Amino acid sequence: MRFNETHSCSKWEEIRFMAETTGNGRVGTKGAQLRSYLLGLIEGELQPHEKLPTERDLAETFGVTRLTVRRALDQLGYEGRVYRTQGAGTFVSEPRIAKSVELTSFTQDMRARGLVPGSLDTVVEEIPAGAEIGARLALSPRDLVAHISRVRTADGEPMCIENTYVPAKLAPGLAARGITGSLYQMLTETYHLKIEKAEQSIHATVLDPPLAKLLGVPEFSPAFKVLRVAYDIKNQRIEYAESVYRADRYSYDFVIFRSTRDTN
Ligand code: GLP
Repeated sequence: MRFNETHSCSKWEEIRFMAETTGNGRVGTKGAQLRSYLLGLIEGELQPHEKLPTERDLAETFGVTRLTVRRALDQLGYEGRVYRTQGAGTFVSEPRIAKSVELTSFTQDMRARGLVPGSLDTVVEEIPAGAEIGARLALSPRDLVAHISRVRTADGEPMCIENTYVPAKLAPGLAARGITGSLYQMLTETYHLKIEKAEQSIHATVLDPPLAKLLGVPEFSPAFKVLRVAYDIKNQRIEYAESVYRADRYSYDFVIFRSTRDTN
């Protein structure tokens, strides 16, 4: 669809007017106006996967070069707001799923956003913990753990790859039982393990080709690797999990507090 067909004249004038002023009544640079206009489209007028105006139309309308337009679109691409499809144009991305500091499960996070949680390629097996997982869970390397490997989905779309390890002695029979829904729900309802806190670390990473394929994104796309050791109310380590989240669909948002002792 061409730009002129997509946006009615009055709407275009209105958005362009908003883009031209930077909120304080001042007129921004052309590049700033273009970005502001594009953000207005992404946040207001267009739905996820709808097409943005072409580079040529944007360049003509804002009186800038195509290189300037491309830079603005690239920047929005790095920020995960838009994506490009070769030969087809630039499209609005799905909004990111904002994670807070609350200790929630994948199922809770998705339901809170009105998305249906799911899992693909689930494999559950009982294996010896080995040195690394044993150390994470304070077990001997010989102790058995249930290893759950899943691709987690939201409305059927792959979001994250999870490898979770649960001490077999705390959840006997988990591997034989298998899992279709929420692990945290199963740990609470079937094994009466009440999760209270977790130690978590988040690293930036990129998706190697096999992981990128599982998540349906280009090879070497950015991702977050989240390591979590969860404890129950008796301070037992009940889970060690390695989750790799698509960085284009997640953000981590925190409220941070300033110490009352800080004066400057
Ligand atoms: C998050 C955590 C994992 C945890 C999982 C449980 O993704 N990062 O450590 O295992 O939630 O999710 P669910 O209860 O939906 O299986």
